[in-house]
Amino acid sequence: MKCGLIIATVGFLAITNVTLGLDNGLARKPPMGWMSWERFRCITDCDKYPDECISEQLFKRMADLMVSEGYRDAGYDYVNIDDCWLSMNRDDNGKLVADPTRFPNGMKHLADYIHSKGLKFGMYQDIGTKTCAGYPGMKDYFEIDAQTFAEWDVDFIKIDGCYADEIQMVNDYVLFGELMNKTGRPMLYSCSWPVYQEYNGIIPNYEILKKTCNMWRNWGDIEDSHSSVETITRYFSDNQERIQPHSGPGHWNDPDTLVLGNYGLSYEQSKSQLAVWTVLAAPLLLSNDLATVTPEIRGLLLNKEIIAVNQDALGIQGLLVKTINKIEIWKRPILPRVKDELTQAIAFVSRRADGAPYAVRVKLIDDLGLSNKTYINGYKVIDLFDVTRKPFFVRMDGHFETRINPTGANFYKFVPKLNIILRGVTDTDY
Ligand SMILES: *[C@@H]1O[C@H](CO)[C@@H](O)[C@H](O)[C@H]1NC(C)=O
Repeated sequence: MKCGLIIATVGFLAITNVTLGLDNGLARKPPMGWMSWERFRCITDCDKYPDECISEQLFKRMADLMVSEGYRDAGYDYVNIDDCWLSMNRDDNGKLVADPTRFPNGMKHLADYIHSKGLKFGMYQDIGTKTCAGYPGMKDYFEIDAQTFAEWDVDFIKIDGCYADEIQMVNDYVLFGELMNKTGRPMLYSCSWPVYQEYNGIIPNYEILKKTCNMWRNWGDIEDSHSSVETITRYFSDNQERIQPHSGPGHWNDPDTLVLGNYGLSYEQSKSQLAVWTVLAAPLLLSNDLATVTPEIRGLLLNKEIIAVNQDALGIQGLLVKTINKIEIWKRPILPRVKDELTQAIAFVSRRADGAPYAVRVKLIDDLGLSNKTYINGYKVIDLFDVTRKPFFVRMDGHFETRINPTGANFYKFVPKLNIILRGVTDTDY
């Protein structure tokens, strides 16, 4: 992808909005919720797979579980339909129609049900002539589709980019955003144009992106494996100088859904995806069957400290700052601020699979890039995966040592401290 990149010089619609990002009041923090695609794909045979097919039943079942399993109260509040909900034909007025067998009561009914649970309702369409799975796309129907989504009380719209020209699509995404705005209903706008441009060697125009979309997919679809999580993570670290500055309140880079709770990730690998997505200030959209998530994975997903880091009000996307013997160190500045120093969420992410847990020993200033201002004497360190552990303290000139399980991650919050009395220096010896 690296060579042959060109800057897109597309003619785009005049943008008069002078604010930095899209100003629809939504997504001030990374959106959280649930989305069907990664786990349920385009399963449409409800006779064979009644619990898995893309249907009213599936989304009602997930909405119920969002509440009963505690996800809603932890902050996961969107329930989003992805592809394969449509009928193959629009109605006589050109309006979209949900598949009548799988959504017998229509979409407004489903929206009402989801809203009655204190949740929000998300839907999917495509900027081109067809959706990725071949259902009717929006091309030539932008106005009526924006109206239809507003009538159905939709809160979140993901617009995919299949069957569309990757240059022209920018104008179309901008136009559709304006039409969404004209409906008067605030709807979170999730765009996919960057991934289609990047796959074709075009650098997306982030200034237009930020003014148009609340979040956007930067890279390919995630799959149910650690290697897929690693591939996306590598895209984010390889391109961090370019993409990181454009993420923030109201407009987020999106590495795609969390796949925790499915078939592919071990417990350690689940910690790894959750830690990296949290450092990236990524939207936390689950794609799994909430009924079969094990208690220990559910515990990770409902970890309040980690959610609080993801939802930090500064909304700064973190960076890969160093790699030591295949242990990646990812760092994200968060609140609280102590004097002028911010707290840092720091993940140690292992790319090792050589059996034993691997210990890394780092210096706070040289390796972690923490402040050496004289009034900060050290850091209070909180283990985000186990907040029942007593916090420990590391002096500014001391070492911090942590041992990471193969393919896993350890995740800490480093809070700046003034005048600390010293205790141990390693994670393991207190
Ligand atoms: C439409 O755009 C204006 C100007 O950016 C904004 O103030 C308003 O909240 C938007 N409305 C909706 C429904 O998105």
